[in-house]
Amino acid sequence: MIPFDISHYQTELSNQKPRKILQTALESFDNIAISFSGAEDVVLIDMALAIRKDIQVFSLDTGRLHPQTYQFIEKVRQHYKIDIELLTPDRVLLDAFVKQKGLFSFYEDGHQQCCGIRKVEPLRRKLANLDAWITGQRKDQSLDTRQAIPAVERDSAFSTDTHTLVKFNPLLNWTSAQVWDHIEAYQVPYNALHEQGFISIGCEPCTRPVLPNQHERAGRWWWEAGHKKECGLHATNTQK
Ligand code: ADX
Ligand code: SF4
Repeated sequence: MIPFDISHYQTELSNQKPRKILQTALESFDNIAISFSGAEDVVLIDMALAIRKDIQVFSLDTGRLHPQTYQFIEKVRQHYKIDIELLTPDRVLLDAFVKQKGLFSFYEDGHQQCCGIRKVEPLRRKLANLDAWITGQRKDQSLDTRQAIPAVERDSAFSTDTHTLVKFNPLLNWTSAQVWDHIEAYQVPYNALHEQGFISIGCEPCTRPVLPNQHERAGRWWWEAGHKKECGLHATNTQK
């Protein structure tokens, strides 16, 4: 296989539409997976299946997702007839954490430790066995942390000296409205929480609906400042 030239594609794909970025990703890498949060990033699955039928999809099952999100993940699995791998936290780490700090320590001392165990560690295990991954990040999701996301990058947070991991963000230039236009136009299934005022959806204790005109991420970790609203999945956003 010809080595993937990240800086070349960074320029070439920077203003491209999601389908083009996805196509490049799926044609350049066999060992690539979509990281699906159980929210509006379902559009990635919808678009990817039109390019390639054998896509790999995983979700981080933190154990703290809303029932509606679990139902939605199952709906997507059945609707598209795909496997969705659910990644669970390391039991030893989780048991020790919950025993020491209980179930809601994030309201007291921030979400990093809980996200570290429930999301980042399982993700790190998964990414160690992939050459590339695809996320649903968009610039319009955050003025604080997502304005500089590229279409493709070397994932410096999860690459090692011996393993380069490439990260694609096909939706980077789309607005929330464009995502919802696609969901509507192509009759894509969506999470029932969106009908209850939720926009950005994460874990149940750390997500709430937003008021009219509030930014979508105002409902995530609402007790913390904007620049802290990254849980470690996308550490490269705060390294730039
Ligand atoms: S987060 O870092 O704040 O939680 P966000 O909810 O904005 O992320 O989602 C951005 C992208 O991160 C999603 O489109 C998805 O690719 C990935 N992601 C977030 N949460 C999960 C999850 N639970 N499982 C898999 N991927 C996720
Ligand atoms: Fe824990 Fe909240 Fe992070 Fe979920 S979002 S892993 S419950 S701190």
